[in-house]
Amino acid sequence: RPTRIIGAPIDYGANRRGVDMGPSAIRYGGLAAQLEDAGATVADDGDVSAPRAEERDPEAETPSEGRAKFLRETKAVCTALSDRVAETLDSGELPLVLGGDHSIAIGSVTGSARDADVGVVWFDAHGDFNTPATSPSGNVHGMPLAALLGIGDFAGVEWANADGLREENVAIVGLRSVDEAEREAIRESEVTAFTMSDIDEEGITAVVEGALEIATAGTDGIHVSLDLDWLDPREAPGVGTPVRGGVNYREAHSALETVAETGALRSLELVEVNPILDEQNETASLATELAASALGKRIL
Ligand code: ARG
Ligand code: MN
Ligand code: MN
Ligand code: MN
Repeated sequence: RPTRIIGAPIDYGANRRGVDMGPSAIRYGGLAAQLEDAGATVADDGDVSAPRAEERDPEAETPSEGRAKFLRETKAVCTALSDRVAETLDSGELPLVLGGDHSIAIGSVTGSARDADVGVVWFDAHGDFNTPATSPSGNVHGMPLAALLGIGDFAGVEWANADGLREENVAIVGLRSVDEAEREAIRESEVTAFTMSDIDEEGITAVVEGALEIATAGTDGIHVSLDLDWLDPREAPGVGTPVRGGVNYREAHSALETVAETGALRSLELVEVNPILDEQNETASLATELAASALGKRIL
């Protein structure tokens, strides 16, 4: 299936500057060439427009309780991104969204789930299940899964709640950093979280197969959201919120090869790449390789 690249160069949702350079870093890291090696036809739509954070007031729009920084700007970018993702799917192409911080998933997933029932596989060290009321940081990149599932108030929910997404079809893979209130919220939900301990015990293949079963059950296809901090910081040092004890290089490839084998991939995103914290752009290059595996690249 032809693939269309859409960049979302924002860091409004993150706690430090730099992930707004993710789309450039990933393109520079050889994305088009990697995808062509995987046999994909690639078009690049450029980036959705995003004002610089320095030009904006982070508190311009506030939720009814708690805190969510740059909510107004996040809403504007996610709304534009959602339209671009939905249009790309309408034209029969696969959207490949480049972040940006993880708040952009609100745009990608609402777009992907606009005219279809989708499942989501969320490869991440974090649960991203906070709300403005529970977030310890006020950073929206720690909240997108809750927003998509209609949990919490995000200064209105229409823009953030994904129509065709049910909790039962969401699987988090690689979890190892969860805030107290987030833990409660994940437990109370119908979302399935596979932790790093599950990967230790069962192995990456069994865990990813389990996650894919959940995401594909009764859906039209899956959205894969790949936060690069899912990997161990030794493999992916260029991320905003690294957490020790993540998956290694081969486990990551194997997981995305398993995704490709389902044939159910509908949309894909690569988020939280921060080239400022990197040497030789290695995290962005790794992101391009993993995208190629997800799109079917094989060793032989
Ligand atoms: N749980 C923390 C928070 O809410 C960190 C979230 C990190 N999320 C991410 N997409 N990197 O601030
Ligand atoms: Mn995340
Ligand atoms: Mn994360
Ligand atoms: Mn809804």
